Amino acid sequence: MYFRSESTSSFHLPPYPYDQLNEVKASARAAFDETVDLSIGTPIDPPPLFVPSTLATSGKERGYPPSFGTLQLRSAAAAWMKRSLGVDIDPSCVGATLGSKEFIVALPSYLRLYDLSRRTVLFPEISYPSYEIGALLAGCVPYKVPQDDDGVLLLDELPKEVVNDAMVLWLNLPSNPSGQISGMEYAVSWAQNHDVVVVSDECYADFYWEERPMSALEFGSRRILAVHSLSKRSNLAGLRVGTYAGDPELVEFMSEIRKHAGMMVPGPIQEAAAGAFSDDAHVAVQRSRYWERLLIMRQALSGIGLDVTMPKGGFYLWIKAPNGVFTSGFEFANWLAKNGGFISSPGELYGSKGIYVRIAMVATTETIKVLAHRLQGASV
Ligand SMILES: Cc1ncc(COP(=O)(O)O)c(C=O)c1O
Repeated sequence: MYFRSESTSSFHLPPYPYDQLNEVKASARAAFDETVDLSIGTPIDPPPLFVPSTLATSGKERGYPPSFGTLQLRSAAAAWMKRSLGVDIDPSCVGATLGSKEFIVALPSYLRLYDLSRRTVLFPEISYPSYEIGALLAGCVPYKVPQDDDGVLLLDELPKEVVNDAMVLWLNLPSNPSGQISGMEYAVSWAQNHDVVVVSDECYADFYWEERPMSALEFGSRRILAVHSLSKRSNLAGLRVGTYAGDPELVEFMSEIRKHAGMMVPGPIQEAAAGAFSDDAHVAVQRSRYWERLLIMRQALSGIGLDVTMPKGGFYLWIKAPNGVFTSGFEFANWLAKNGGFISSPGELYGSKGIYVRIAMVATTETIKVLAHRLQGASV
């Protein structure tokens, strides 16, 4: 469908999601001298203070770092999982990644080798685009699982042939883009009953606003992996470091492949990452920053007639357009760009069914206040 067309044997990738925002950016620039990009969820706040000095002084730059991750890093991640998720994971069942995206995209290619009999990759129909891309790059079959209004996956509605071929089920709670957190228990038990590997992308685990979202690891580790990242937790997206953890056999399988493939987190980064996983104070500060920004932006958008609900987790506002006003998420994002001078992501980038935009709280609180001020007087 996307790649090798039968007639030309050429290779077609779908467009990169964030390369499709030129018109929205131009609309913002035409209306305001200073525009703000709230499309990609890229952190802008400072990382923990000790990170730069650890990077400079670890002395770990000469030799090859362990692909699996140092014991120091894997132990610090396991201890964080105990503190934050309430799960007991042995450090031998935790491996390092170069940020979760590379692991997410590569996973179907690896897992195909683990179970040669299945090829279908299941993922929420409204979700982070890399689950689908990973399936396509592996020559697997991507399959969007429908969801109810709370984001719960309607797995019992899947056709039998899809279930029989299902190799992996992706979960992502809190969800990017919707911030929903429901349905973990049902999805994990469905997957275990159908012998499907669950991989739970929990990169927003530290950012929740009332109830703590569940981790897939609370249901044991049989055919379960959870993926975590320091990109959002510690504002370290630029370091590229995260972890995968869970089923001992799957972790060993993944780590062996990754060793052959040369997937190694640089040594100084492993040391800094161990420090970041060991500290929770900076996360509490970041959590309050995001919450304040979400409240300010929600109030501004409600003030101009939009119906905005606060997310249950994550740092995005996922906003449905009022009925009949816009014909697409792109048009909605254009309108916001013209009236507020900021760039948001059209819901189409995440597979939305209705007309949505996603706004990331990745500008300082002062800047978010400026945007809120700009929106005053506009009305949808
Ligand atoms: C749901 C989800 N998973 C994974 C990632 C990638 O994060 P990382 O920086 O760890 O690669 C993102 C980034 O926005 C995300 O939203």
